[in-house]
Amino acid sequence: MSRVLVVGGTGLAGRAVTAEAIDRGHEVVVAARRVPDDDADEYVAGAAYVTADLVTGDGLEEAVDGVDVVVDTVNAVGKQAAHVFATGAQNLVHTAARFGVHRAVLLSVVGVDHSSYGYYRAKAAQERAYLDSALDTRIVRATQFHDFVTAIFDRGRPMGALLAPTGTRFQPIAVTDVARVLVDAAEGTGEPDSVIHVGGPQVETARSLAEQWKQASGTRRYILPVRLGGALGSTWRAGRNLVPEHAVDGLGYAAWIDSRG
Ligand SMILES: NC(=O)c1ccc[n+]([C@@H]2O[C@H](COP(=O)([O-])OP(=O)(O)OC[C@H]3O[C@@H](n4cnc5c(N)ncnc54)[C@H](OP(=O)(O)O)[C@@H]3O)[C@@H](O)[C@H]2O)c1
Repeated sequence: MSRVLVVGGTGLAGRAVTAEAIDRGHEVVVAARRVPDDDADEYVAGAAYVTADLVTGDGLEEAVDGVDVVVDTVNAVGKQAAHVFATGAQNLVHTAARFGVHRAVLLSVVGVDHSSYGYYRAKAAQERAYLDSALDTRIVRATQFHDFVTAIFDRGRPMGALLAPTGTRFQPIAVTDVARVLVDAAEGTGEPDSVIHVGGPQVETARSLAEQWKQASGTRRYILPVRLGGALGSTWRAGRNLVPEHAVDGLGYAAWIDSRG
């Protein structure tokens, strides 16, 4: 059993990692800027919670003290992304190394190394902070989560539509499947300072996935094909978000929809 610190463990992926690590018998500490009440959805029974802010460094020393492995599942969008991913990662790896933390596992995204999209560039800087650190690091690059792909479709709601990016395929994955790979890495699977890729069980067009969501949700909204502009659109249309050779034998999109009841 190890003492595992899940930074960002109140988020979508972080909660799944926390639950998986507790199931495997690890002692888990979750760090985030806000800690949940024990009756909140974000609360995972069996975890200890501490407040810490990667950017200011507040609470970081207390969070890493006595920890064997750090798993970083933080997220930030817009202008915050550069601060949290670059500055925050530097603060975390330096503090962790100073406190004798042995291993670190970072959750990243497939394709961040081949895109000029701002968020991906910030993720690439975050990866570098880990790989350049003194810690035994594993980067786990995952494809888009089922939840994220569904959120893209639902951005069409104000227009009475489901948005489906044209010329785009996804290989969506369940966060529970990503969590298994992250906890494997936390336990030492993979080489030190390696990048591990993981993708969902199937590559499908955005259109096909949107049709599955339309049917399952019973919505009467029509599917609106949109050409996604900018660096993210071209990264996805080039298929740089796909790793069919690293598909998990896990929960596909249709099964994930069913599992939501
Ligand atoms: N969405 C996808 O399809 C996808 C695919 C592959 C990889 N990923 C990666 O998965 C990671 C997690 O994404 P997610 O959607 O699970 O995130 P999320 O639900 O938005 O959760 C983000 C977590 O980070 C914490 N956090 C944010 N800023 C912080 C700070 N300054 N200090 C400490 N904690 C902070 C948040 O808690 P507080 O706000 O309380 O601090 C929360 O616990 C991201 O790095 C993302 O790049 C996502």
